Amino acid sequence: MAHLVTGLLLILAVCGVVYGGRDIYGDVLRLPSETSRFFRAGGAADDANDDSTGTRWAVLIAGSNGYWNYRHQADVCHSYQLLRKGGLKEENIIVFMYDDIAYNEENPRPGVIINNPKGGDVYEGVPKDYTGEQVTAANFFAVILGNKTALSGGSGKVVDSGPNDHIFIYYTDHGGPGILGMPTYPYLFAKDLIDVLKKKHASGTYKRLVFYLEACEAGSIFEGLLPNDLNIYATTASNAEESSWGTYCPGEDPSPPPEYETCLGDMYSVAWMEDSDIHNLRTETLHQQYELVKKRAANDNSIYGSHVMQYGDVGLNQENLFQYMGTNPANDNYTFVDDNSLRLPSKAVNQRDADLVHFWDKYRKAPEGSPRKVEAQKQFMEAMSHRVHIDHSVKLIGKLLFGIEKGPEVLNAVRPAGQPLTDNWDCLKSMVRTFEMHCGSLSQYGMKHMRSLANICNAGIVKEQMADASAQACVTVPSGPWSSLHKGFSA
Ligand SMILES: *[C@@H]1O[C@H](CO)[C@@H](O)[C@H](O)[C@H]1NC(C)=O
Ligand SMILES: *[C@@H]1O[C@H](CO)[C@@H](O)[C@H](O)[C@H]1NC(C)=O
Repeated sequence: MAHLVTGLLLILAVCGVVYGGRDIYGDVLRLPSETSRFFRAGGAADDANDDSTGTRWAVLIAGSNGYWNYRHQADVCHSYQLLRKGGLKEENIIVFMYDDIAYNEENPRPGVIINNPKGGDVYEGVPKDYTGEQVTAANFFAVILGNKTALSGGSGKVVDSGPNDHIFIYYTDHGGPGILGMPTYPYLFAKDLIDVLKKKHASGTYKRLVFYLEACEAGSIFEGLLPNDLNIYATTASNAEESSWGTYCPGEDPSPPPEYETCLGDMYSVAWMEDSDIHNLRTETLHQQYELVKKRAANDNSIYGSHVMQYGDVGLNQENLFQYMGTNPANDNYTFVDDNSLRLPSKAVNQRDADLVHFWDKYRKAPEGSPRKVEAQKQFMEAMSHRVHIDHSVKLIGKLLFGIEKGPEVLNAVRPAGQPLTDNWDCLKSMVRTFEMHCGSLSQYGMKHMRSLANICNAGIVKEQMADASAQACVTVPSGPWSSLHKGFSA
């Protein structure tokens, strides 16, 4: 255990955490009742239903589950409240969340979810359109396409949009090169998402679509894949090769209230939402928000920062946020200033290490000798040994396929900017399946190796060669929850 704890302290030092931003969210939060009062008053709210802008639709999705991933569902709940305050109707907002947080036994405030250390509840009133096992890539695609017959379970709400409508899609979770997580497998492959967006465009059922994406290596979902003639504008939390970051994590300043042993939000997500919370979105453009979020997420170019990117029809960013998010009438007198309030230096936790931070914080706070302490230690060690197994197996497969020296070189190669990870997504999926069959689930953490698997395809390796190498590399698969294929992402 002594050895383990040393390793642990090292990791936490790398992800150590201070946040210096002033609170801009807490007191601003307004309850839905105030929104409805505004609706009764009429006035500016009518703009929200103005035929010239069509209907505003939104699809909000948290791709994870588990208390250590608290922040993704907190982000989604916050975005729902924000859009409702902006005047979007519940019937036009489709929410995907596993819904295992609010009443999780680890949640210190049962029935409440917060997205900021001083923020109020963002959970109340959030519709449970697709929860639990219904949060799948297939349902997400069916909802975007408005195809009710393709749905499996859920409320049946879909984006039933017309040619004048504006659509906003917001996804937050773990990702990896070319892939996004889902609480229920299979994970979502970039190529499949792009195909769905192309299909939606071909159906002529939107005027413009904006996609905000928080995930590690999020840029890889669109880079070289999203055409610029679909009337789609996307921004991502990170470029194609880097982590995105959790924020308001234990140990930061301000940290979550002490009873929380988990991060409350994600850096890019919190940046765009805390910006939208306070501004008049009739006057703020997508581009202004992009610049602001970029500055905050870059974090003074520290190692805790990421590069927020734009993809698709970038010219659309001259439009106002109002077209997609509506605007909270309480912010009407706020004129946009490109102020510094949102870019004070902060530190953050790498998305991939946020689970370890949770287990560690739980371990640290549990009374000596308590069952809780033993459990937290076990959880931590299982997560660590899974990581070691996955990293080691991928490296070894590379060496078996390409030789001791060339192995790492081939696996780590990055294609030039503007090119997708691979041109052969069927091969990539088959490499994932083959790996998992022999080595166990890649799981959330293993998503980081997608580029290596893509490079194996790009090098012309066929499935049989991959199967041989995987069988040799993985003589045994460690037992433990993380290795279960249930957490795998092969279809
Ligand atoms: C809707 O989904 C069903 C089932 O997957 C499929 O057969 C059908 O072609 C889809 N409809 C459209 C309009 O894409
Ligand atoms: C905005 O300013 C006008 C004029 O000063 C005032 O009448 C109105 O109440 C203000 N609105 C809000 C939401 O503060």
